[in-house]
Amino acid sequence: MRNVQCRLNGYEIIAIIIGNCYFADMPDRQNTAAGLVTNFAEFWDHTTGWHVIRTQKYLQALVEQLIKDGVYADELLSWNMDMIIPAVPFHDVGKISICQNILKKPGKLTAAEFDIMKTHVQKGVEVIRIMGRYGYFSDFLDHARAFAAAHHEKWDGSGYPSGLKGQEIPLEGRIMAVADVYDALISERPYKRAFSSEESARIIIEGANKHFDPVLVDAFKKLTNKFAAIANDYKAKPPPYQDMNAILRQQLSAVCA
Ligand SMILES: [Fe+2]
Ligand SMILES: [Fe+2]
Repeated sequence: MRNVQCRLNGYEIIAIIIGNCYFADMPDRQNTAAGLVTNFAEFWDHTTGWHVIRTQKYLQALVEQLIKDGVYADELLSWNMDMIIPAVPFHDVGKISICQNILKKPGKLTAAEFDIMKTHVQKGVEVIRIMGRYGYFSDFLDHARAFAAAHHEKWDGSGYPSGLKGQEIPLEGRIMAVADVYDALISERPYKRAFSSEESARIIIEGANKHFDPVLVDAFKKLTNKFAAIANDYKAKPPPYQDMNAILRQQLSAVCA
């Protein structure tokens, strides 16, 4: 396999994101950054670009269902939905610091490779920390940080990076875990086939109390058709921010070889 080396570090990633968003109006800056990160991810890792779009849709559906059911309602109603949705693509922003021979490996990662893969969590948090210096809304940054930091934690404490358990895991991370894993299951990845919507839903439901917050799995059970429809709708559409691609390619070619 060609060993693609990436010289990007957190500062270079953030320089590109901020450089492109700096002149956006303050209310648009979060959405502009979300679009850039989505394209950036698609360029770097073809499985991640549409993944972050679909996870936005799943997450929105879950949040709406929880509010309807009155579950975690106080916390959810305190969230600014205009900020939460653009924060979703940042959950995997750290993946753009992971080399492609690991991201695109067509088989199981070795323990050492998985340790490197896991660092996308801390790298993502670092990117968001630096963004904090550049005039983004603080609730956007707070949500983005929680998504990035906690989306691989598991309800039973066996996740990473901190091994948080139950409600110690921020709600953003618990919701994102359901959306993130469902999309990984239903999508083809370099290391696995795409599972059917029925298989994907069954695995999520079986993960209640282990990987996932059982209350969120109850909400998910009411949304299985909706999740399947989202996965289907956003399978083969062209990337949404194509106009930014040329700029990104040019900038990335300067730091990747
Ligand atoms: Fe991740
Ligand atoms: Fe993800």
